[in-house]
Amino acid sequence: MGNADANVLDAFKTATRNQWEQAAPGWNDHTPQIRTWLRTATDTMLEMACVKQGARVLDVAAGAGDQTLDIAARVGPEGFVLATDLSPAILALAKANARNAGYKNVETQVADGERLQLDEGTFDAAVSRLGLMFLTDPVQGLREMHRALKPGGGICTMVFSKPDVNPCVTTLMSTAFKHAGLPPRDPFTPGGLLSLGKPGLLDEMFKSAGFRDVATTKIDAPFRLPSAGAYLDFIRASASPIQQILGKLDDAARSAAWNEMEERLKVFETRSGWEGPNELLLTAARR
Ligand SMILES: C[S@@+](CC[C@H](N)C(=O)[O-])C[C@H]1O[C@@H](n2cnc3c(N)ncnc32)[C@H](O)[C@@H]1O
Repeated sequence: MGNADANVLDAFKTATRNQWEQAAPGWNDHTPQIRTWLRTATDTMLEMACVKQGARVLDVAAGAGDQTLDIAARVGPEGFVLATDLSPAILALAKANARNAGYKNVETQVADGERLQLDEGTFDAAVSRLGLMFLTDPVQGLREMHRALKPGGGICTMVFSKPDVNPCVTTLMSTAFKHAGLPPRDPFTPGGLLSLGKPGLLDEMFKSAGFRDVATTKIDAPFRLPSAGAYLDFIRASASPIQQILGKLDDAARSAAWNEMEERLKVFETRSGWEGPNELLLTAARR
């Protein structure tokens, strides 16, 4: 990699960290909605990673720790969870949430998922919920998780699937790019929300990181809220990648972008509320 490429990647990482530092309170405040949205997918992820009582579990890109607390409950007082994230602010919320819920088996560590630098072979299971796609080098992130796992240890990651089955995300992205005066971006560009949704890509990545018994499962995760406006409230407060695209706009231009997103997403309003389709991929494997 040349110096110029390395500088672009560093700038992307710094921007990502800064945006999540800002979005941290909004993401945390929406934990009840996120929890309901991802309930089935999260339980399935933890099963597929073999998160069991007494296990030592690594949680990468843990955010405000919603799934970390589920892991802490599953592994029990004899088990242990290490929650890691690039953003100190969001991880501080994870730490506070674990403490407030009474879990003494949770520790946090600020770390880029591509440079975890953990001791080799020390975890029974590893997960990452909606985090791996933000890494510009996901194979390197997977190598780090592979290294941290004991031989035979389980892993499961959750990311968005392909663009045509994630119309909410594609609508948000295309509207944001249009208002920012930027050309549409290839959804599979590394580091983007949908970057790992290309069919077959994740399995190849897991295999090249050294994993065996790799299998990807699709799971529907419709986001049910009272209205498109409630979804936009969540996005405005917590969706760092969209804020990153709109970052240079003034308040009026940004608000025009949010309004257009809300209008376009009303297409998913039903008689009983709003139901935004999302398809997720759960990839499970073993070291
Ligand atoms: C969509 S949130 C998911 C948080 C949490 N896993 C959840 O599902 O509630 C994405 C998280 O990825 C983190 N992140 C982004 N890039 C990262 C990187 N390179 N290394 C580690 N974490 C990263 C962000 O700081 C943010 O907390």
